[in-house]
Formats: sequence, C-alpha cells, structure tokens
Amino acid sequence: MSSHVLFTIFGASGDLAKRKLYPSLFRLYKAGHIGQHFAVIGTARRPWTKEYFEQVVIESLGDLPDNTRQAHEFASHFYYQSHDVNDTEHYIALKQLQEELGKQYQTEHNKVFFLSMAPEFFGTIAKHLKSEQIVDGKGFERLIIEKPFGTSLETAEKLNQELAETFEEEQIYRIDHYLGKEMVQNIFAVRFANIIFEHIWNRDYIESVQINFAESIGVEDRGGYYDHSGALKDMIQNHALQVLSILAMDKPKSFNEADVRAEKIKVFQHLKQQTDEEIKRNFIRGQYTAGHIDGKDYVGYLEEPNIAEGSQTETFASGVFFVDTDAFRDVPFFFRTGKRLTEKGTRITIVFKQAQDIFGQHAEKNVLTIYIQPTEGFSLSINGKEVGSHFALTPAKLDFRHNATALGNSPEAYEKLFFDVLHGDSTNFSHWEEVKASWQFIDQVVRIWQDNQVPLHTYPAGSMGPQAAFDLLESYGSKWIWTPDVWYRERGLL
Ligand code: BG6
Repeated sequence: MSSHVLFTIFGASGDLAKRKLYPSLFRLYKAGHIGQHFAVIGTARRPWTKEYFEQVVIESLGDLPDNTRQAHEFASHFYYQSHDVNDTEHYIALKQLQEELGKQYQTEHNKVFFLSMAPEFFGTIAKHLKSEQIVDGKGFERLIIEKPFGTSLETAEKLNQELAETFEEEQIYRIDHYLGKEMVQNIFAVRFANIIFEHIWNRDYIESVQINFAESIGVEDRGGYYDHSGALKDMIQNHALQVLSILAMDKPKSFNEADVRAEKIKVFQHLKQQTDEEIKRNFIRGQYTAGHIDGKDYVGYLEEPNIAEGSQTETFASGVFFVDTDAFRDVPFFFRTGKRLTEKGTRITIVFKQAQDIFGQHAEKNVLTIYIQPTEGFSLSINGKEVGSHFALTPAKLDFRHNATALGNSPEAYEKLFFDVLHGDSTNFSHWEEVKASWQFIDQVVRIWQDNQVPLHTYPAGSMGPQAAFDLLESYGSKWIWTPDVWYRERGLL
C-alpha cells in the first residue's frame, strides 16, 4: 500500500538531494510505495520556481523513468519554497503550503522532514518547526537528519537537546547511509541465520576482525568540509563503529527494532576505554602525498583545492577497538579507512583461530570475508587436501560474489532508509545512545591527535596507507588480509 505523506526537504538544491534523495524517492514511487498521496516541498535559499524545481528533479532521475510521462507525473508532486532558515515569515508560508498540499494530496497530516543542510542550522529549523506549528502533533511526524551529528560529544549533545525540544527520540532518524547498504544488513543474516557461525562467533574462535573502508578517490571538491573533519570523524565515528556494533552484538531475542537496538547499544557502551598511552599506540593517522597508480598521477592532499596550507588533517585512519563483552573481550577489531588508497573496497574479514594441528603441517587460518562494496557477497577460506598420493594441506576459497550495482538489483541505501522511515522502523538508523558513546571514545583520540602527541604519517596516493598501519597489526601478531596494493606492485603499476 502506498503511504500518505508530505515530505519537506531542507536543502533541496543541494548535491545530496539531486544525487540520492530524488532518485530514491522515484524508486519508491515506481515500486508503488508512494503514489497519489505524496507530495514534496523542497526548500533552499535560491529563488526557484516550481517548474524549474520539477526540471531539476527530472534531470536527477537519469534513465530511471520508463518514459517522460512517468518522470513528469512524479515531478508534479514536487513544490518549491525559497527559504531562509532564520526567517520566521518563511516558516509561516511553509505551514500554509503544507496545509494546502496536505488537503490536495490527502496526506493525512503525515510529515517527514529531511534536513540536508549544514548542521549549524538543524537546531534553528527544529525550533521553528515547533514554534510555527508545522509540527502539530497530527499524523506521524518524523525527522531525518544527515550526518555529521555533531563534531564532538559536546556539540552532539547540544544538537540533540535542540532537536529534543521538538521531536522525541523515536521520531528522529539519524542517517548513517552504511546501515542502508544491502551487505551491511546482510551481516545480520550471516550471523544469525547460520548455525555454523552462530556458536563460533566469539573470542574462543575468532582471533581478530578487520574492517576496511578504503576509497580510491581523493577529497574531490569537498575540501572545505573534509579539512575540518578528517578520516576519523568522517568514517570511523559513524560508519565503522556502526558496522562494528553489528559484528560484535549478541544475538537479539528477535529481529525487531527494540531488541536489535538494545544489543547494538550494549556494544557501544562496552567499547573498551583505552588509556592515552594505548591510544597513542593503537591509533594511526596519515595524510596522502602525491603518487601514481596504474599510469595516473595524483596530487597530494595539501595540493587539493580548499585545503588549508600545512593542514594536519588526516586522510587515513587506522586503529584497534576492543569490545568488553563476554563474547569479545580482548579480540582486536582492526579498522582502516582512507582516501586515495589503492582501490575502493569496503570489506570485513573475520580471522578465525588456528585449528589444533594433527598433521604436522602448516594450515591457513579460516577467514570469512564479507564484501560490502563494490562487489557484494562472501567468501570463506577453508583447508582441504591437495590432490595427489601424498597428504598435503591446501587452502580453498568458497566464493560467492556479484557486482550488485552493475546488476542494478541492490536498492539504493537511501531508498531503503526512506522506506523504513515511512514504516516507522528505525532499526537502521543511529540511536542517540550509540552516537553519544561513539563520540565519547573518538573525542579522546581527537584530543591526542590535535595535541600532536603522535606523528601524522604520510603515504603516497595509490598505496594502502602508511607503514605504521601495517606495523600496528604486526604488533598484535597479525597482518592485513586484504592487500590490493600487492597486486598492483607485482605488475609494476604502483
Ligand atoms: C561519507 C563520507 O559519509 O561516506 C565520504 O563523508 C565518503 O567522505 C562516503 O566518501 C563513502 O560512502 P560510500 O557509500 O561511497 O562508500
């Protein structure tokens, strides 16, 4: 059944709206999840007309529509209001438009607000939504909010208080687009629908976990934002810790929102606090310098546009978390993320402990890899016997992978997340308790890094980060399982 709902998007002229939001809404429309009874109010500062806005929406859809009629029909549900977030008059006009469209489309007072703007405006918008009674307690009222949720515990708390004046926690949907990814959601299935993993998913059998969030792109045109953020806040505080919580959580009683959430929050609350000395040893930062890979040259971070001279912002972060639960105490959860690494690849490897030897031969450790992107799937390496008259162990890899984006069958993260919001399901969003606990941890690393208590390593564009990130694993008797750089080096491409 299609939803009755009025969307209001703050930041409707922005890049995210065009790249992700409109196409995702369109996919929901095409699938029949929204139909006759939905409308969208887009707001931004620019003085656009409805016609122009419709055109922007249509262009953003690319070749998704079956025909131009369908595209136009969809876009006809979009209305535009030029809006200055500080001007009360504009909210009064917004309220009026909301009421008109509510009647016209019979949206039953159901409202979804999407804040896709600089976070400093979130509080002001939320306040006005209440004072001008745009949020009026009729129908469902849900707020979707984009990252970053604060830049420290303090700013996150302030923001949360501001939102809490207008919205209850259950009404707030904090986006972490990784939670909308097909293969991140698939971790639940792998972990909890397979008896072969269920009983070995703990410290007795798992030696370490490696979380890779590698990107081959540089900072592109986002230098202004990125230079104030850096890899730790951009990727680890949110995406990596969310993924970690799904990997480390205990099995929930059921797969409903409350049970899943309770177990995830437990992981965040059991993130082991590390001493300053441990943080200095366990967290590595790096910045890319000029480099070349596969015949192409890339400039260093400091030469990118909108980067402050001599910037100390890290474009690479690696480290180790521990989760102090009975299941995972002392198991290292290694992570690394960075811009301008060898290849784009988000993948998790679970390294199992060595089996007790009865063969007098070396056996490889079992490794389960979960491929999140660009390919999606799993692989499991196990040991077998080499064909032949003598008995020799040899590793074999069971591999199931496909390129989902190319097949076009994996829904866009935002499409799934919108769908969940329409159904009031916040399982795949970040809860305040999770955000709070993650900032508590990350703040400490930020402080140590800002005080320059550890070196800012460099790494050439195209490599897999500074040597220190390899040494870190070695200090735990481990090594990175995924080494795409080796492939390029062996072929003289790096
Ligand atoms: C965003 C970060 O949250 O995630 C970006 O701000 C990063 O810096 C992006 O490039 C990666 O997302 P994806 O879906 O392309 O892996």
